[in-house]
Amino acid sequence: MEESGLLASVYQPPRARRAWRFEEVLGHDRLRYFSLGRWALKEALRLAGAEPGKAVLLPGYLCREVVASVAVLGARPVYYGLTPALEPAAHPRDWPQACAVVAVNFFGFAQDLAPFEEYCRRTGALLIEDNCHGLFSRDGQGRALGCRAPLGIFSLRKSMPLPDGGALAVNDPALWGQAAGQLPFTPRPAGKRRWLRELAPIVGAKGAWSAIRLGRRLRALKAGQELPPPDPEGEARIPGTPEPCAELGGPQLCAEPQAETERRRALYAFCADLLAGCGVTPVFPSLPEHATPYLFPYHAAGEAADKAESKLNACGLFSLPWPDLPVEVAAAAPQHYKDIRGAHFLW
Ligand SMILES: Cc1ncc(COP(=O)(O)O)c(C=O)c1O
Repeated sequence: MEESGLLASVYQPPRARRAWRFEEVLGHDRLRYFSLGRWALKEALRLAGAEPGKAVLLPGYLCREVVASVAVLGARPVYYGLTPALEPAAHPRDWPQACAVVAVNFFGFAQDLAPFEEYCRRTGALLIEDNCHGLFSRDGQGRALGCRAPLGIFSLRKSMPLPDGGALAVNDPALWGQAAGQLPFTPRPAGKRRWLRELAPIVGAKGAWSAIRLGRRLRALKAGQELPPPDPEGEARIPGTPEPCAELGGPQLCAEPQAETERRRALYAFCADLLAGCGVTPVFPSLPEHATPYLFPYHAAGEAADKAESKLNACGLFSLPWPDLPVEVAAAAPQHYKDIRGAHFLW
């Protein structure tokens, strides 16, 4: 793909050349679809026995809304720390007791599951592989992320232009009998970014970015801030209803696995080159062979962050900080939880 087409694909990704099914990615059909990854995580936690009085072990570096999947079951979140490279900071023998532990493949990069498996062997906890960022991504041995633990969760809507979409993969056949039935596939509106996708092929990435910037300025005039504020109830409730959109009821026609992996890897390489020398530090030292990156994540602060943003904006790209941390973590969070930004590959 030539450079201008590659950059415009952030706003209008190419359609699939062939219809494909998610089961092909997983290698099995023990699968349940939901509207959001959070509903899929709630069902995974229910299968793991999360209920009032039980604890669920989560990474401290996490989007605060994910805590809602624990809260709606009446269970209690507890946290393990992460290093700047987003690996566990302490030995699993020092992690608190829980009925389930969630390992996250941050930004599509495979988390080493060995410490998590050790924790589960010792405590009897169930391992859930959160692959909400890593659709189509594989580890060094070529294993699909989200399929390496008894349960895997996905947020399909983050990696494909769908109105919504989450999924639970019940990788351990022994758990399948306890899984709830598939909820009905429900028609949903295409979403507010549709106009941008239609505009992008005409105006290119720079034009699409100008339209976003204009939208942000109008919001700032109206509401006092450029980006929508976090939902104050976000840690306590999962928004909407759990039924998946109608598009997930049949073969997929968007974001074909191989082409999408190539597109995302090319964008990652582009951002890595563009931001080299800006004074920002990529979260991961390199892009592993089989990884399908969700975005280009980097640690940045002050002038270096501004310089990087200007370079991205000049190409029609932009970054956002991630995440809004859980309230319990935020007060004592280390700097490396607070200075990560990501240049996005789908809008
Ligand atoms: C690591 C991780 N897991 C789960 C989720 C939840 O996905 P969804 O927004 O589809 O509910 C998110 C959302 O940001 C996430 O970042």
